[in-house]
Amino acid sequence: MAVSKGSEPWILMVTARSPTNIAVIKYWGKRDETLILPINDSISVTLDPDHLCTTTTVAVSPAFDSDRMWLNGKEISLSGGRYQSCLREIRRRAGDVEDEKKGIRIRKVDWERLRVHIASYNNFPTAAGLASSAAGFACLAFALAKLMNIKEENGELSSIARQGSGSACRSLYGGFVKWVMGNDASGHDSIAVQLANESHWDDLVIIIAVVSSQQKETSSTAGMRESFDTSTLLHYRSKVVVPRRILQMEEAIRNRDFQSFARLTCADSNQFHAVCLDTSPPIFYMNDTSRRIINCVERWNQFEGTPQVAYTYDAGPNAVLIARNRTAASLLLKRLLFYFPPSPDTELTSYLLGDKSILEEAG
Ligand code: ADP
Ligand code: DP6
Ligand code: CO
Repeated sequence: MAVSKGSEPWILMVTARSPTNIAVIKYWGKRDETLILPINDSISVTLDPDHLCTTTTVAVSPAFDSDRMWLNGKEISLSGGRYQSCLREIRRRAGDVEDEKKGIRIRKVDWERLRVHIASYNNFPTAAGLASSAAGFACLAFALAKLMNIKEENGELSSIARQGSGSACRSLYGGFVKWVMGNDASGHDSIAVQLANESHWDDLVIIIAVVSSQQKETSSTAGMRESFDTSTLLHYRSKVVVPRRILQMEEAIRNRDFQSFARLTCADSNQFHAVCLDTSPPIFYMNDTSRRIINCVERWNQFEGTPQVAYTYDAGPNAVLIARNRTAASLLLKRLLFYFPPSPDTELTSYLLGDKSILEEAG
């Protein structure tokens, strides 16, 4: 049994922070909905956690009689399969925990009975196509693993985060990350691996143009299910196009070849949105402003002769713009401010390539 020296009910807490990540070769489509196994590999860049991140505090106490969670200050239900999968997988691996200062000892077996409370905040729009599910579930898995003293082996944590939201497995590493789709039906080999750390290509500057912070109408989960069921382009893409692009993208990253990186990134974003159009009924994640930003970048790149900026859009209207260096980034910001003057709906922020999840404090 979990013990404490004093008679007061005790509480043990861990706070962690995780960055979001944006895919440059997109994941869209699952071969297994419950385990969240994708139909193709994907590659992403992890953003700098100082700016765009999730902060999650997890707490355990014998005084808690059920698992509960608050997201951005509002209680949400944990009954969904994804939260249950993460909690179950983490509890299964929980270890002994001892806090000498507080006189608390929790044994492995106690975790089955002990309940947790979770409070999570995103410092950027939730469910608006900026990968809140990625930062959110990566942070949840990371914080719970610290609380329950889990010794991670072979990307196990990324495989747990994946069962919360596919893209989350990539947020546990910094820099450039590949989610290997794997072959195994159990999903054990469907994990993220780091391709290069955040200092490998530190010329790059990422600028996010928030076009709308409203919640999207079709969640990523529902959207990719509809595409999987109705889009022939999606299946062609996952079998024929993506395997080739993954190899080319890995090479571009290895060689810091911005021209190839930009060509592949823009093409993959455009094909992903073409798949959304090829879905029945079609899904429109981008809006007029998103398309005008694409035009502006394409024209500028053409004028320069070599690409200065790559664009990519996740399942939402917000632009993620990757500039080849600081000079290109400052010119880009000037152009954006000229063509898209700030309005209550538009916001521009710049980021550098980010580090992995970090533990803030344990108490
Ligand atoms: P996004 O483009 O923001 O990733 P999704 O449709 O993929 O949008 O996922 C949004 C969902 O992710 C939310 O409705 C919520 O269920 C979950 N989510 C978002 N933030 C968090 C968080 N901090 N902790 C846990 N789950 C989160
Ligand atoms: C367009 O990971 O949010 O951002 O696994 O159902 O939670 P679920 O979906 P999610 O999908 C992300 C889709 C994407 C591309 C990507 O991040 O690779
Ligand atoms: Co998401």
